[in-house]
Amino acid sequence: MLLSSLVGKTAIVTGGGTGIGKGITELLVQKGCKVAIASRSLQKVETAAQEFNEKYKESEGRVIPYQCDIRKNEQIEAMLDSFITSHGNVDYLVNNGGGQFVMPAEMISPNGWDAVVNTNLRGTFFLTQSVFKQCMKENGGSIVNILMELHGGWPGFAHSVSARAGVEALAKTLAVEWGEYGISVNNVIPGIIYSDTAVQNYGPFGPKMFKEAMKQVPQGRLGTPEDVAVAVVFMLTAPYITGHSLVVDGGSSLGTLAWWNVVHGMMTGKVKIDDLD
Ligand SMILES: NC(=O)c1ccc[n+]([C@@H]2O[C@H](COP(=O)([O-])OP(=O)(O)OC[C@H]3O[C@@H](n4cnc5c(N)ncnc54)[C@H](OP(=O)(O)O)[C@@H]3O)[C@@H](O)[C@H]2O)c1
Repeated sequence: MLLSSLVGKTAIVTGGGTGIGKGITELLVQKGCKVAIASRSLQKVETAAQEFNEKYKESEGRVIPYQCDIRKNEQIEAMLDSFITSHGNVDYLVNNGGGQFVMPAEMISPNGWDAVVNTNLRGTFFLTQSVFKQCMKENGGSIVNILMELHGGWPGFAHSVSARAGVEALAKTLAVEWGEYGISVNNVIPGIIYSDTAVQNYGPFGPKMFKEAMKQVPQGRLGTPEDVAVAVVFMLTAPYITGHSLVVDGGSSLGTLAWWNVVHGMMTGKVKIDDLD
């Protein structure tokens, strides 16, 4: 593996107890990093911390769980005070914690809009600002935000895609404002990433939605948290890359697979003219 040792480094991963965040946490810990994982449910982060601290007990890496709702500034400050007192610094911040509910735009209520935007945009901003003020302004560091595919929009997710577009613009802005402090700010844009929690987020529709989505992926499979983790750790540790977004989607955002399937089918005789009605 190309990624180098992270012994002596420290990180915060929001939503680090499940799904994509758990995959990122595992790779950081494997590399020897001390990782704070934060979410609203203490039980989720404690369970993941216990699993990894046992699995990697021979390594320098450790996971420290925190109950922290990123919508609450006082919980952000309490987590940072505790982690910095114990571990001295935050080298890496991964803004992964977030989510949304599916709803046509015309039906989104003010409360629903605020809940999603406050988590994905406001929470991401104020945690990032606090980490900057408490550590990175003095010591430098690296920030990666987990977004969602933006450029075709996301029907059913008007609130979330708007918040993520805000974070993408924020990353570029901070990359310039904070460049002089040795801080890089980048985004990773996952395609459809399978995990038990990601599927459960969509209730009984989840399994079918993910199965359908797989048909749009040129590489023929859904992504995994590990696929995203490799890209995140690369972006966290790559020197001189800032203000960028890296898409990790097996090619699905290219949007030309359906066309290719028809052309390829015609050329191989698998698709007949009558099939194209
Ligand atoms: N899976 C995909 O296909 C996909 C694609 C593109 C983008 N994403 C994004 O990737 C991120 C991770 O998603 P996932 O698929 O791994 O689903 P997941 O397992 O449900 O992860 C979401 C995590 O965010 C945490 N979280 C939610 N609200 C929070 C808050 N207010 N404060 C702190 N933590 C909070 C959750 O923990 P608590 O409930 O305990 O707070 C949970 O651990 C999300 O931002 C998601 O929108 C996912």
